[in-house]
Amino acid sequence: TIPPTVTINSKTYPTDPKWFNISPSVLALTSRKLHLQRDHPVQITRQIIESVFPSPTYRTYNDFDPVVSTHENFDSLGFPPDHPGRAKSDTYYVNSGTLLRTHTSAHEAQLFRASESPGYLISADVYRRDEVDRSHYPVFHQMEGARVWDRTKVPGGDIVAAVKKDLEELPGHDMLVEDPNPPFHEERNPLQSGHHRAEEAEVVGRHLKRSLELMVGEIFRRVKMAGGVDEDGEPLKVRWVEAYFPFTSPSWELEVWYQGEWLEVLGCGVSQQQILIDAGVPEQIGWAFGIGLERIAMLLFRIPDIRLFWSSDERFLGQFRGVSDDLGKLKAFVPFSKHPACYKDVSFWLGKGSEEWHENDLMEVVRDECGDVVEDVKCADKFTHPKTGRRSLCYRINYRSLERTLRNDETNEIHARVQRALVERLGVEIR
Ligand code: PHE
Repeated sequence: TIPPTVTINSKTYPTDPKWFNISPSVLALTSRKLHLQRDHPVQITRQIIESVFPSPTYRTYNDFDPVVSTHENFDSLGFPPDHPGRAKSDTYYVNSGTLLRTHTSAHEAQLFRASESPGYLISADVYRRDEVDRSHYPVFHQMEGARVWDRTKVPGGDIVAAVKKDLEELPGHDMLVEDPNPPFHEERNPLQSGHHRAEEAEVVGRHLKRSLELMVGEIFRRVKMAGGVDEDGEPLKVRWVEAYFPFTSPSWELEVWYQGEWLEVLGCGVSQQQILIDAGVPEQIGWAFGIGLERIAMLLFRIPDIRLFWSSDERFLGQFRGVSDDLGKLKAFVPFSKHPACYKDVSFWLGKGSEEWHENDLMEVVRDECGDVVEDVKCADKFTHPKTGRRSLCYRINYRSLERTLRNDETNEIHARVQRALVERLGVEIR
């Protein structure tokens, strides 16, 4: 029973039953826009990052609609037709040509075409079907940043000199930076030799790296202010590691040494020239990055569970009041008492067509039936019958509300509902 149309942020779209897979619980979150809510930790995190990228060089765009075309989200960025990210098991579709953006990069082309400034920042809610645990939620927030230079507008048409000048104007820092790899890797991260000279891409890469080091420096200065860094006085240590994205080359991830481990904080790279060509600005060269705001907010405020961001509990929201106006008030979140966990298993045989089994479908059934009272779901056992070849799975669901202690009969009732929904929606047979 799929409705013929769906209305998201007061616009109506025709659904296609072969594609539509947005559950009511996810639809309900499309209007929340946590990144725009004053004194919300996601909004405060956005504000801290924006403060590193000065206007008028960088303009901010924080109100783009989450419904975009498949073209904007994937094709325009060079995702191949068979890229796994396009699968219905990973992405929420309205119909084949319309989806809930999976990343803020969906807006790159439109801003390369039309931004009134050489740099831009986009903050937005993004949607991915995913597992259930304390750091994954089907909706989260990302920030995209980019900076371009125009060959026809820089003095003497000299991109290298222009970027170098901008690079020299960036402030210094005292971080320890590990950057062991050469700027290009022949197969994985080649120079876009049809479009860029090596010196051009290298200096753009250096400007990118310094800009993002400054951003991470500011974030961790704030983490320290909030009492989250133990190694007092130690300069921050970061490293650049090679990465792959269809829309940048070369590409990197930036990692930060934090509490004894390397923490990945963002992805970035020199933008694929084809995107700029398609956007009608072939004479521009530039870089882009993307960063997840919840992960950073969880560090800044020591927030232990991603579900908390969606809470309207005053014991959560009240702790951040006034911080938007005065970042000096930033401090770690004090968790309210943790309620007891309640583990329940569900075991089932897969029905016909079990080659089609996608774990994310189960995750979504659980989210739909239980809302935010499930902390995590883990596969506990897998078994294939030696004679019939039938497959059986067992999942362990951890029921734990952030707000109150669940009664036993209540949990049993929810668990029974999950079992019924698994039978009805996924065609499994409970063991
Ligand atoms: N969109 C990428 C992601 O979601 C991040 C990214 C943005 C990487 C821009 C490179 C450039 O993982």
